[in-house]
Amino acid sequence: MKVLFAASEAYPLVKTGGLGDVIYSLPHALQRQGADVGLVLPAYRTVLEKLKNTRIVGWLDIPGEGRRFSARIVEGDHDELGIPLLLVDIADLFDRPGNPYQHPDGYDWPDNAERYTVFARAVTQLAMDRLKLGWKPDVVHCHDWQTGLIPAMLHMESNAPKSVFTIHNLAYGGLFPHAEYIKLGLPASWWSSDGIEFFGNMSMLKAGIVFASQVTTVSPTYAREILTPEYGYGYEGVLKSIQYKFRGILNGVDPEVWNPRTDEFIPFHYSVQHGYLRGKRQNKKALLGNMGVRAGEKTLQRPLMGFVGRLVEQKGIDLLLDILPKLIKSSNALFVFLGTGQSWYEARLQTLAKKYPSRVLVHLGYSEPLAHLVEAGADLFLMPSRFEPCGLNQLYSLAYGTLPVVHETGGLADTVVDATPENVKNKTATGYVFPDQTPQSLMGAIDRALADFGHTARWRQLVRTAMRQDFSWDKSAQEYLGLYTGES
Ligand code: ADP
Ligand code: GLC
Repeated sequence: MKVLFAASEAYPLVKTGGLGDVIYSLPHALQRQGADVGLVLPAYRTVLEKLKNTRIVGWLDIPGEGRRFSARIVEGDHDELGIPLLLVDIADLFDRPGNPYQHPDGYDWPDNAERYTVFARAVTQLAMDRLKLGWKPDVVHCHDWQTGLIPAMLHMESNAPKSVFTIHNLAYGGLFPHAEYIKLGLPASWWSSDGIEFFGNMSMLKAGIVFASQVTTVSPTYAREILTPEYGYGYEGVLKSIQYKFRGILNGVDPEVWNPRTDEFIPFHYSVQHGYLRGKRQNKKALLGNMGVRAGEKTLQRPLMGFVGRLVEQKGIDLLLDILPKLIKSSNALFVFLGTGQSWYEARLQTLAKKYPSRVLVHLGYSEPLAHLVEAGADLFLMPSRFEPCGLNQLYSLAYGTLPVVHETGGLADTVVDATPENVKNKTATGYVFPDQTPQSLMGAIDRALADFGHTARWRQLVRTAMRQDFSWDKSAQEYLGLYTGES
């Protein structure tokens, strides 16, 4: 089974969120089950800088908006990646600073429609083995709107590989005006409400949904939620119409990257069998030290709550900001925030950090090492997302014995077991789940967590149960293989 992964990011080359983690770890899990997996990415500047022995394997002539590009197709090596990699190298489109989607000043690249259309055209050529590289995939697995046009383009080919399209987040549709669609020279026959037209715009995400042979999303609960207007972002109708080829498959954790026994980013290793109490305490001290707090015994006994994530409405950061002053007064907890995102959330966090310098510790920016240290050093992990297709941070938190506080939605609902008295008694509880998207509901869960934090035996039991959860990729990889082969 030959599978070509097409995506816009992949750890450790380029990552802005969970998508990057999945594009690294799912191919590895598939390889373990015998699949032959390749990966194709745009040749962003940061990716080229990280590769060794780059070699040109061919050239493709690809149309853009009223111009043509000569795309270099490049192979390259990377010590950690472990997946054969092809890059679509077009300097005019991808050799830029900043992240894949945005200028360093935080606005979307104005030519994103052209960038990802050209990428899709190049991937389609590669998937058809037009460069005669001797490797034609059986399946092209595409991820999110940046690759949504690929299933549509493959649909126009004869003898095309099967396409699988995974929705990681419906909130990002790859929406562009009709005028752009015309300039891109995309087929007129696609422009209908059964095709890629979406309330007057084009939606690259919808292209993937409509034309892929199979469509998935990253948790069973999100797969159900997005069939409703509340979570469907307007796609609920089209998703209902393709239910016969649509399902939710839960993401997993890659133990090579997120594992407190071996994590290269944390100073003290631990496991549920070996020294988790001491390990977490030492990492807590290291984390606080990293944030400028020299923690003595007393401080280490206080609860430490962590947040890592994109500072956007999805993540419910506003719910958290609303209750923070109250929490600071009503408890002795400390808070660590790591994130980047919308400027108004960053500003509010900075204001709170200034007002409560010994309680609210904020790092605005992107730091892979610090993200790992927060998971290892905090006692509680706050993830009050309004919606969460899967969420990886709560899975990492479970593995690191950092009890997650989560809103009952999407993958959060599928992976965290609330510490109700009954679940505590039967030893299944792993965290705190709150039902409503309100500051009060979040506050209720945090209050329960703080109360349990004071009950040492109960707390330790919860931590141990959390650390013993198995969210490995193997089962999900098997499900994907079933989809690829058409057996399930
Ligand atoms: P999403 O993909 O919606 O952002 P996930 O929970 O699936 O949410 O994945 C987020 C991933 O991005 C995790 O690996 C997390 O550690 C990482 N991450 C998010 N923000 C930051 C940041 N500021 N610094 C480092 N890592 C971050
Ligand atoms: C998206 C979602 C997140 C998911 C990730 C990987 O970014 O927001 O919930 O875990 O993709 O699938």
